Amino acid sequence: MSRLAKEFLLGAATAAHQVEGNNRFSDFWALEMAPHSIFKEPSGVAADHLNRYKVDIDLLASAGLNAYRFTIEWARIQPEKESIDAQAIHHYKQVLEYCISKDVTPVVTMHHFSSPRWLIYEGGWESPEVAGFFADYCALVVKELGHLMGYVCTINEVNIGLQIQKMISRAMRQRTGLQVGLADTMSESLQLQQQGMLDAFPGVKPEAVYHFLSGRSDQGNAAIMLAHEEARNAMKAIRPELMVGLTLSLHDIQPQDGGEAQARQEWHDEFLRYLPHIEQDDFLGVQNYTRSMIGPSGLLPAPAGSVLTQMGYEEYPQALGHVVRAVAQAWKKPILITENGLATDDDDRRVAFIHQALAGVQSCIEDGIDVRGYLHWSLLDNFEWMLGFEKTFGLVAVDRDTLVRRPKNSLRILGSYRDRLFLKSPNC
Ligand code: BGC
Repeated sequence: MSRLAKEFLLGAATAAHQVEGNNRFSDFWALEMAPHSIFKEPSGVAADHLNRYKVDIDLLASAGLNAYRFTIEWARIQPEKESIDAQAIHHYKQVLEYCISKDVTPVVTMHHFSSPRWLIYEGGWESPEVAGFFADYCALVVKELGHLMGYVCTINEVNIGLQIQKMISRAMRQRTGLQVGLADTMSESLQLQQQGMLDAFPGVKPEAVYHFLSGRSDQGNAAIMLAHEEARNAMKAIRPELMVGLTLSLHDIQPQDGGEAQARQEWHDEFLRYLPHIEQDDFLGVQNYTRSMIGPSGLLPAPAGSVLTQMGYEEYPQALGHVVRAVAQAWKKPILITENGLATDDDDRRVAFIHQALAGVQSCIEDGIDVRGYLHWSLLDNFEWMLGFEKTFGLVAVDRDTLVRRPKNSLRILGSYRDRLFLKSPNC
């Protein structure tokens, strides 16, 4: 096998809260269990990955995949501000060792949306103090487990809060327009959200509950970027050899007639504004799910006749290659595709999606773009945050009653790319 084929990271991703189960000390657990929760259902045992990680890594490895992205969950390692759970550290040591024993390269995420519940009482993700807390936690993990780690994503989708903020503002602006229904649903849901927060975090004003998926101010954005930089520096100070970066949620932004200026602004907000903060990173995690078509008044609906995913947005696998190319114009260091996939109950569509998305990746590699890997979202059908378990993104189905795993054809197809796609690269 060629050097590139050997080293290209081809795998799948999960996030702790979405698969592990019983993440009791996290802020999302509190929000889900609140009497007025906006969550469709609580995460509960999720996919019980905490206990079944070996089965899941075996499935991934036996399909031919060589990389697994997962979270080391802050709320497990540091359930209370003043306490560290040695057993949790030992658990993740076993997960890392198991990956390595199966020739699977672990790609670790230090924060994937969920945080310890205590952090909310410290001002959450709008407080400048979050940087110190997060950097201390990352340093602790790297001291204990850094010898088993290679690629580390500090924070998943640092830009998601600003994207959510934009969606809220858009819906509010449109109250008087055609989308009154949507705006009303949104503001009703905001009211419910506020009540849910009061239930979940008694004593904290609902408008001061800043979990990671809250709408975000510029000050909050600055706090998050500081958290990333301090965490990166702390981890690199202990283990300079680690490859450290963050991940961004990026759309394939396509200007339509008259939408050029708006589209430029979107790309700035989504990507370019982060460049000064990641200059010293070792790689960038690119996450893409669809495209955004931008007209003179902003985001346009998906074109008539397009196929939508279970999430309601357009199924458009070509977006991935486009986004990687757009990123590579401004970012000259390694790119790792840390998420890409679709929610569908038709696995043939997932297979077709993988073929097209990987064709885009292959053509980027052939043009000399330094793409180091592709990690499909997701290894398992899992807990899609507020939307519960209904949306199925997995390469492996999980029976909700028995939690028994059933690998889908798409897992096998993705694994088969290990030998037949990247071998052709001229860089070999
Ligand atoms: C997030 C995942 C989520 C996926 C699908 C990404 O933005 O990182 O946690 O499940 O999108 O919606």
